[in-house]
Amino acid sequence: MLSKITVVGAGHVGATTAQRLAEMELAREIVLVDILEGIPQGKALDEWEAGPILGFDTRVLGTSGYEETRGSDLVVITAGVARKPGMSREDLLTTNAGIVRQVASRVKGTSPDAIVLVVSNPLDAMCEVAKRVTGFPRERVFGMAGVLDTARFRTFIADAVCVSVEDVQALVLGGHGDTMVPLVSYTTVSGVPVREFLDDATVQRIVRRTRDGGAEIVKYLKEGSAYYAPSAAVAQMVEAIARDKKRLLPCAAWLEGEYGQRDVYLGVPCKLGRGGVEAIVEVPLTGDERRALERSADAVRGQIEFLRRAPAQARSS
Ligand code: 2OP
Repeated sequence: MLSKITVVGAGHVGATTAQRLAEMELAREIVLVDILEGIPQGKALDEWEAGPILGFDTRVLGTSGYEETRGSDLVVITAGVARKPGMSREDLLTTNAGIVRQVASRVKGTSPDAIVLVVSNPLDAMCEVAKRVTGFPRERVFGMAGVLDTARFRTFIADAVCVSVEDVQALVLGGHGDTMVPLVSYTTVSGVPVREFLDDATVQRIVRRTRDGGAEIVKYLKEGSAYYAPSAAVAQMVEAIARDKKRLLPCAAWLEGEYGQRDVYLGVPCKLGRGGVEAIVEVPLTGDERRALERSADAVRGQIEFLRRAPAQARSS
């Protein structure tokens, strides 16, 4: 169990994440922060009061400042505006970069030893902003996307094959966006390649639905984006860290030559433990998969470059 986890952003993703982390007793204290006065305080108190019913002793505290977050072991950044129908994650780039920049700078000052788990979109570019502003090593700044994308992929595969989701193993790599790369060659049902169960057209339909998984939900909700599966994905990553489980999970990690890529965040298989990203695991890819990963890296690089060139006003917004 960790001492203190901070969740920044008390919207649907942040509040649901805080709730899941408390229910799993992953820290003695969860601090929920948001600039909106009253919202984090009210939601956190409500979540804390569920403890006697659900049997957890984690204290949940809401605040609009960073003093209470001081000395956090782990900070989950969910702050930012959410997508509306018709918007891509990239449409959020400049606004959310400004928000993540401010949050990262407060985190650096109050929790200099923290592991930072970024959830704000567009995910891979926001990880780069958080890493640049905090100056933390890559082991301690990474993002949640692959676990969510892989969960969506597994859900649809299990549904099509008509088996338990628990028996579907899969890996979705690349950026969290239209260029994500579901690895069909690593997708199995209890070790049996998925192509033994599904024809190519069905697999390709599932790959497309996975890529559009976030947008499918935004279209239904109209205001805001998905949060149940995203918060479950964050909780799984936090559990791997808090309990030092050494789980192999796809995370947005800063690459320094792995997969032939450098100076870019990209979803790749990582070993997650108490040290954060303790290793990046390189798996052999087919030519098509490698090219798709390169396209994905180029798309993320484009966003990072766009932000670097953005006018000062956008940078301080
Ligand atoms: C999603 O894929 C919000 O990016 C998040 O649903």
